[in-house]
Amino acid sequence: MHYLITGGAGFIGSHLVDFLLAGGNDVTVIDDLSTGSIENIKHHLKNPRFHLFIENVLNRNVVEYVTRSADFIFHLAAAVGVRTVLEKPLQSIEINIQGSRNVFEAASRYKKPVLFTSTSEIYGKNENVPFNEEDDIVLGPPSRKRWGYACSKALDEFLALAYAETNGLRVIIVRLFNTVGPRQTERYGMVLPRFIKQALSNQPITIFGDGSQTRCFTHVRNVVNTFSRLLDSPEAFGEIINVGSQQEISILRLAELVKQFTKSNSQIVFVKPETLYKDGFEDMNRRVPDVSKLKKLTGFSPCCSIEEIIKESVEYCLSSK
Ligand SMILES: NC(=O)c1ccc[n+]([C@@H]2O[C@H](COP(=O)([O-])OP(=O)(O)OC[C@H]3O[C@@H](n4cnc5c(N)ncnc54)[C@H](O)[C@@H]3O)[C@@H](O)[C@H]2O)c1
Repeated sequence: MHYLITGGAGFIGSHLVDFLLAGGNDVTVIDDLSTGSIENIKHHLKNPRFHLFIENVLNRNVVEYVTRSADFIFHLAAAVGVRTVLEKPLQSIEINIQGSRNVFEAASRYKKPVLFTSTSEIYGKNENVPFNEEDDIVLGPPSRKRWGYACSKALDEFLALAYAETNGLRVIIVRLFNTVGPRQTERYGMVLPRFIKQALSNQPITIFGDGSQTRCFTHVRNVVNTFSRLLDSPEAFGEIINVGSQQEISILRLAELVKQFTKSNSQIVFVKPETLYKDGFEDMNRRVPDVSKLKKLTGFSPCCSIEEIIKESVEYCLSSK
């Protein structure tokens, strides 16, 4: 099989590249290296089954060109995370909406199936955990830029389903909850690599808020493996599916574990979110997926504990220093 991965030089995308090439497939990546890195894929650059286009998914001609020769498309390229959207609101919305539209349009035209990565962010301020795929989306006002990420991904979901209905696009939409592991960078504010970096340099470990907010973390290998199981499941097409672990941990406990595993002298400090985010910040207290659909389709179960994930992520950080 020949797979196209948009965003394949990123954190999750590069693990997907490893997985698919190891399975004897051909892989083409299109990535503009905006948040991804050549470091993540450099071990494949001489592999004749690996093809890299350093390009923007906003370039419709290139997207069309790479789509034609692919059998399946993983669409991961996006302006990722709340911080990116806060810093570059216009560019982020354009990439997430027009970029996805280019991919869905080309995939429809050439009849190529797609797996699209959406986000748990789109449950927004909904407090009824665990979140089911049919639950309401509860977003804050557009004057708070942070909701631009969730809103653009929600619109992508509408777009994907509209292409499915109108043009027969075969699409799987996955809503990823916090995905972590080696190669995730701290540069865009992701919590686990940020804590690890702070701890390893004996800087204060900074928690926004009081640390009682909880999240569920899933190992990136688990996520990539789940993608491949979904492709083998014909009932997954046309569906929106939560992907994530249900093991909940508070951000304070996460910071304590990071401190413990890095044997760091860092202090854990609490920062008012408003000091970082000028237009007022809204955070969610809990974010837990209902994974009954995922389990039914793939038999999903978490591959490892949060302690194992932290340990591996710390080891990665130490080895790549
Ligand atoms: N990591 C998580 O916890 C998480 C959670 C929910 C959803 N997601 C989604 O998963 C996908 C991958 O996220 P990630 O964590 O690997 O982030 P990442 O930033 O490492 O990966 C995104 C990749 O897309 C590339 N990219 C961005 N804009 C592009 C453009 N216009 N053209 C071409 N390439 C472009 C980046 O350079 C990067 O390599 C994203 O769609 C993200 O929204 C991730």
